[in-house]
Amino acid sequence: MLSPTSFHGLPAVLLRAADGGRATIVLQGAHLVSWIPAGGAEWLYVSPRSPFRPGEPIRGGVPLVFPQFATYGTLPQHGFARTQGWRVAAESPGGVSFHLESSAATRALWPHDFTAEFAVDVRGDHLGLALQVRNSGARDFAFTAALHTYLSVSDIAAIRLDGLAGGAYVDRANNDAPGRETAASLTVTQEIDRVYTDVAPPLRLTDKSRVLEISQTGFRDCVIWNPGPQRTARMADMEPDGYRRMFAVEAATVAHPATLAPGAAWEGAQSLRQSA
Ligand code: BG6
Repeated sequence: MLSPTSFHGLPAVLLRAADGGRATIVLQGAHLVSWIPAGGAEWLYVSPRSPFRPGEPIRGGVPLVFPQFATYGTLPQHGFARTQGWRVAAESPGGVSFHLESSAATRALWPHDFTAEFAVDVRGDHLGLALQVRNSGARDFAFTAALHTYLSVSDIAAIRLDGLAGGAYVDRANNDAPGRETAASLTVTQEIDRVYTDVAPPLRLTDKSRVLEISQTGFRDCVIWNPGPQRTARMADMEPDGYRRMFAVEAATVAHPATLAPGAAWEGAQSLRQSA
């Protein structure tokens, strides 16, 4: 069931599944800001210092990164999808999808015609997120994208992530130096900002007694990000110790940009399943 609501003053929708699972999505950016599985607790982090103003990205939840990841291109950081107004396109029991298409505003930044759909599905202990992009223009285009999922954690020092051992990565915190994961389980002791390429899901996040299985399809890369104390101190939209309560695990296509011919579509998905 879908009902209108607001989130810190921004127009949003509340999605409630028959089994009690719920999600809140802000229409600006089709920005998922809350996921509470049936019988569970909140899994997404949102910074209370986010601006919550039209045209400014929310710090937390699941920002949609499209058509450019970070600064890899000439667009604003992480592209424009996260600050555009999306509309509800379809509704089903436990599901909702949102629509965005190219406009004068997007063409001023990126000269391509596209349509994008973002689907959110809430069922029991599971959250499904899927981004579809279609080329509605007459020329090929390439893009990078991510579902920039900010997970809420009890304490960044207490978590571990399994599933990345042996994986190659690009270290964004160290001038994009190449690296390879040597730890059996990833733990976070300082700033981390890495694009793991060609990941083999699922990943498994353990946070004390909570466990989350994280899968992705379509997206070949996975970005792991936590700003650590020094970088957080320079971020106006984070509390000084906010980095301790968040852990970004982003399904992404960065090292492998997607290319679409006219009429062609691409889809990438991330799914989260609470397993304890
Ligand atoms: C991550 C990037 O995906 O997003 C980081 O890897 C970046 O480098 C972070 O700092 C947050 O970006 P923004 O634009 O939301 O501050």
